[in-house]
Amino acid sequence: MPITLWRDLRAATLAGDAAWGAIDNACLVVQGDRLAWVGPLPELPREWASRVNDEVHLHNAWVTPGLVDCHTHLVYGGTRAHEHELRLQGVSYEQIARAGGGIRSTVAATRHSIESHLLKHAQRRLAQLKADGVTTVEIKSGYGLDLAHERKMLRVARHLASHGVDVRSTYLALHAVPPEFDGNADGYTEAACQWLDTLHAEGLVDAVDAFCERIGFTPGQVTRLFQHAEGLGLPVKLHAEQLSDQGGAALAAEFGALSADHLEWLSEAGIQAMAQAGTVAVLLPGAYLTLKDTHLPPVAALRAAGVPMAVATDHNPGSSPALSLTLMMNLACTLFGLTPEEALRGCTHVAAKALGLHDRGRLQKGLRADFCAWDVEHPRELSYWLGHRPLLERVHAGRADGR
Ligand code: NIG
Ligand code: FE
Repeated sequence: MPITLWRDLRAATLAGDAAWGAIDNACLVVQGDRLAWVGPLPELPREWASRVNDEVHLHNAWVTPGLVDCHTHLVYGGTRAHEHELRLQGVSYEQIARAGGGIRSTVAATRHSIESHLLKHAQRRLAQLKADGVTTVEIKSGYGLDLAHERKMLRVARHLASHGVDVRSTYLALHAVPPEFDGNADGYTEAACQWLDTLHAEGLVDAVDAFCERIGFTPGQVTRLFQHAEGLGLPVKLHAEQLSDQGGAALAAEFGALSADHLEWLSEAGIQAMAQAGTVAVLLPGAYLTLKDTHLPPVAALRAAGVPMAVATDHNPGSSPALSLTLMMNLACTLFGLTPEEALRGCTHVAAKALGLHDRGRLQKGLRADFCAWDVEHPRELSYWLGHRPLLERVHAGRADGR
């Protein structure tokens, strides 16, 4: 296997105790898709130095782990700009949903889209995320809401994995009640559990998700789904406490959920349950901003309780048409009070943990060679710019874009 030495760089490894895990005059030895050695160049062991086939000089650029966007709905038909306009006139997200718009309107557009069309549009969006340094992305289904169309979405998500990025696919089983089950959310929940069996057998599901909310599903319905997922050995995640406190985060924690996401209305009991279960809090400032929310997630209490905090785009056509994870880092700091270092950790190793991945998110020997080089004076600059993309190089599984 060829060995490449990346050198003349400063590394924000996010490993060890130092702030940012920073190493000056650092180098990375990449063998295949792994980091074989990380440290100061003068300390590079002779056995590695003598085996290097190729060298890349980065002119003192900062290198961080590749970014992980751990919550997206990247595959869908249509847009919802008309709803954005309605909200600007004072109609709420909840009112639009209750009137049959919202998620349901994207369901109609997604059902009407053929697979190749969904793929083409999702590829364009994915290209935007990659241009911002994303090397792993989670993609949820949930705009099909029947077996055939959920399968179509999950297949598109699997196809996207071949484009220089890792994809984790989440079956968002309980997102909204489709028209054919109007007034029968329990019946829909049962059907979704059966579809989960099929989709899982087809190898399309890495995790299972639901939307626990007044305009979504009840804790009882979510419990039914989670028990079914548990029976199949699949990890769960939950859209919880976005618009109201339903006790969703505590419920998710009871099932050892990888993450509970949104959390604007999270209670102290929910925080404690998450802390005990090791469930990651995924903060989604793009949705908070787009819905002009004013109820902040309890960041200080999460921090005090030791709940790891991730940050993601929640890219979707309704509540968060965001295609820049570094912009989300800025918003997480500006709106939610994260530190720039917390924001970077939230988009790297903590986001990986929210996906059940422990082989990435830090620059450390043995981990995946997923990293980015940035044209910045310091990594805090990654959460400073509003829309500037200082990416110089993106390396996924040891392979640099365009090299
Ligand atoms: O994460 N809250 C539920 N799901 C998405 C929004 C979906 C939509 O509005 O299309 C979210 O915000
Ligand atoms: Fe979401």
